[in-house]
Amino acid sequence: MSHSELVVFLLPSILSLLLLVILMQRKQTRFNLPPGSTGWPFLGETFGYLKPYSATSIGEFMEQHISRYGKIYKSNLFGEPTIVSADAGLNRFILQNEGRLFECSYPKSIGGILGKWSMLVLVGDMHRDMRIISLNFLSHARLRTHLLKEVENQTLLVLSSWKENCTFSAQDEAKKFTFNLMAKHIMSLDPGKPETEQLKKEYVTFMKGVVSAPLNLPGTPYRKALKSRSIILKFIEQKMEERIAKMKGGVENLEDDDLLGWVLKHSNLSTEQILDLILSLLFAGHETSSVSIALAIYFLQACPRSIQQLKEEHVQISRAKKLSGETELNWDDYRKMEFTQCVISETLRLGNVVRFLHRKALKDVRYKGYDIPRGWKVLPVISAVHLDSTLFDQPQHFNPWRWQCSNARGASTSSSAATSSNYFMPFGGGPRLCAGSELAKLEMAVFIHHLVLNFHWELVDSDQAFAFPFVDFPKGLPIRVKHQPHDSYIENDSS
Ligand code: HEM
Repeated sequence: MSHSELVVFLLPSILSLLLLVILMQRKQTRFNLPPGSTGWPFLGETFGYLKPYSATSIGEFMEQHISRYGKIYKSNLFGEPTIVSADAGLNRFILQNEGRLFECSYPKSIGGILGKWSMLVLVGDMHRDMRIISLNFLSHARLRTHLLKEVENQTLLVLSSWKENCTFSAQDEAKKFTFNLMAKHIMSLDPGKPETEQLKKEYVTFMKGVVSAPLNLPGTPYRKALKSRSIILKFIEQKMEERIAKMKGGVENLEDDDLLGWVLKHSNLSTEQILDLILSLLFAGHETSSVSIALAIYFLQACPRSIQQLKEEHVQISRAKKLSGETELNWDDYRKMEFTQCVISETLRLGNVVRFLHRKALKDVRYKGYDIPRGWKVLPVISAVHLDSTLFDQPQHFNPWRWQCSNARGASTSSSAATSSNYFMPFGGGPRLCAGSELAKLEMAVFIHHLVLNFHWELVDSDQAFAFPFVDFPKGLPIRVKHQPHDSYIENDSS
């Protein structure tokens, strides 16, 4: 093809592209977009946005952008034009209007690794069906009848392995606890067994890839994670086949009570859907809770007064149990853990395990005079609201007592906290509110119960949580413990 022929051939495409760009620009000027900057071509401001920062702050990028443009600004992130919201009202509005004005929209790489049937990426009817299954599996009734006991067993298993004066990673221990719990509850896997340990090993590689840059190149964590994903799926599929064979043979046993048994009996999901559901629940229910427990251990050691108050609460519960001759925690004991709930809320507010959510606008939306054009990415940054000094007094200060004037449902009775508790959204909100929020709080409470009753702990090396933006302690939160059985505490207390 000659040079002039090539020009004639390409000219229509170039002209249409130009027309498209002009039309898009004209459309954008029709909109009253929030202020902001779109950064570099293609890259936008993604690198600045993802730069690690202390988890108890909103990071330099957010700080600078909020002070320059306000709490709602435009940017270009993850390769798309984006509206970022640090505005409590807009965040609520976005989450409440899921499916109507906005829709969950995680980057493609998340679907690539968690699977196309993962709850995090599904929308519409299929999301609803999967959500019903998850809610059923994590229902209030199951928490009371099955999970509380299991949570306590797994807590004691981990804590009983802690040796006097030994140094270990509190973050790894918390991960062990939440992984064992989920593996048991999802597939009846027993902790410590070779197959569970093998799965845990693959899972660690898998997780490194989930949180890494999605570069599918030889040697990258993403590529390794894709490999681990297929090993994990093969493992789950094998468990599934064994279970189907058992069910066909009429062998009914306790295992049928786990998630695997439940979906096989009560749903008509395909094998591929079941595998992605199990993998995504293992992911959703393991990482977030373990980081939250590590954060609680971290915040508490720096606040002796809160440990003292926790001890008083848990010693009282423990004494009452001894008097009645009971040994295991029950639901009434859990309900008595009021100050513990304040500690949990404060840990989630200050630590912000999930910092922002991914959405896109389904329609042109107008909010507070600004336009959010259809198709744009929208990021409700929940951490920015939790650390907003106009909503929370001294937001960077760990203060569980700020939650004490809230009633049982979290609605506050004091005026300044009234605003804040309305905007406390560590578990998201609307139709995609975290399905495991109650389990997460139960795990944290039971863990804290046995921790404060039995141990005194200190940090052996300075470490702090960073947002990468996934929250992690770079040194694993190394702690040293001293055994402090609560009986001796009671003696001191009464002397
Ligand atoms: C402190 C611990 C936890 C935190 C902070 C947390 C946070 C969240 C958040 C913010 C979302 C909403 C995501 C979005 O809207 O895009 C979510 C969704 C979800 N979480 Fe959690 N989570 C925690 C623990 C758990 C646990 C223990 C489970 C149990 C398996 C779980 C299962 C789920 C599921 C299934 C969803 C998807 C819900 C849906 O799309 O309908 N989470 N979580």
